[in-house]
Amino acid sequence: MTWRRDDAHRIWIGGVSVAELVETFGTPLYVMDYATVVDRLGRYQAALAACDPPGLPYYAGKAFLCRALAGLLEERGVGLDVVSGGELATALAGGFDPRRILFHGNVKTRDEIAYGLAQGVGLWAVDSLDELALLDQMAGAAGVKAAIVLRLTPGIEAHTHAFIRTGQFDTKFGLAMAAGIAEGAVDAALAAPHLDLVGYHAHIGSQILEVEPFLANLERLLGFARDQYQRLGFWPEVLDVGGGLGVRYTPEDDPPPLEVVVEGMRELLRQWTPPDRSPPRLYMEPGRSVVAEAGVTLYRVGAIKTVPSGRRYLAVDGGMGDNIRPALYQAPYRAEVDGKVGEAVAATLAGRYCESGDILIAEQQWPADVAVGDVVAVLGTGAYNYTMASNYNRVPRPPVVAVREGQARVWVEGERWEDLYRLDRPWEPW
Ligand code: LLP
Repeated sequence: MTWRRDDAHRIWIGGVSVAELVETFGTPLYVMDYATVVDRLGRYQAALAACDPPGLPYYAGKAFLCRALAGLLEERGVGLDVVSGGELATALAGGFDPRRILFHGNVKTRDEIAYGLAQGVGLWAVDSLDELALLDQMAGAAGVKAAIVLRLTPGIEAHTHAFIRTGQFDTKFGLAMAAGIAEGAVDAALAAPHLDLVGYHAHIGSQILEVEPFLANLERLLGFARDQYQRLGFWPEVLDVGGGLGVRYTPEDDPPPLEVVVEGMRELLRQWTPPDRSPPRLYMEPGRSVVAEAGVTLYRVGAIKTVPSGRRYLAVDGGMGDNIRPALYQAPYRAEVDGKVGEAVAATLAGRYCESGDILIAEQQWPADVAVGDVVAVLGTGAYNYTMASNYNRVPRPPVVAVREGQARVWVEGERWEDLYRLDRPWEPW
């Protein structure tokens, strides 16, 4: 993240002052640091390209996606993981090449499958036997052969919040590598006339801060691949290990560098590949670790209260509508005040929505002179904030502005009040 403070403690992001950003675009405001996004994409790309054969990151659009970002991803030549027709439409509207798109999701509707097939989506992650049959039939009807990976669950418990854990067997996602379920899916995929099975996928969860679960996941995939090779002579061209690498929301979070994770994986690929085969191509689907630390949300303090217990509340002009993560996952964040420093008073950072649970930061130390009208920057909001935003209380979603070397560009316009009733039909006496 390229944010810094100047001698007057003013905050600058991407060479643009926070004062100028809020003056131009108002608050709340999502700010994306272009340099951070490009750095993370480049590092994933370089680490995976150094594998033999070269692998590819498929950025997970659910973390953050808009037309401009799709254009940037296309310019960089990475892949893109989409999970809905809406994400696919956004990517295509941004000029993204459908051949580098991977279509995920545990329920893809017929409309979404038809749209993806018509647009030439390059790879499908098949999540169930029902979907396998449907995709085979629809690909046949469209006169194409669809390349697929099977989404498998490895039976791994990653140490992360229960809501964002997906590797265990008891999950709605994927096909279990147990009880013959995954084997049955391989048989069905190889027998499907309009599907081309290219490999396997497994994603174990999100905000993971250790290397071991990632390596255990790939080891499970490789073990499964070896078993199928012995059983059927089928060896995968691709292994997709999903996303999930964590980021530093607070100083206590200490994620391993992605290069260390990839290096560990390269080693496993070398060890497990049968002598008469070449290692599969390694695909990863990073979302959070590409965009989270690039994002900052700017708010203005609207009220400060001390309640009878002595607890102090700073309330700002946004909250759970633009960042649901604290309410949903008790996700921790840290904030900075523009123009002021110091750790003198403890206070809760609260939002403006009509819910007691609308808390952005349960407790943090603040400068002694923090006051109504100050601009607060919540750090690390680039992933799963804008994409999970709502219009609760009919509050418009904030704009997204990208900053780079002193320039700010709108990536997504802010909603206006009239946008909120755009789809409403007027009352007609009944
Ligand atoms: N691939 C698959 C199949 C996934 O399900 C996900 C995330 C990713 C890749 C990207 O994972 P990442 O690198 O971003 O951790 N809303 C939650 C996170 C949900 C993650 C869902 N799947 C949050 O705000 O923490």
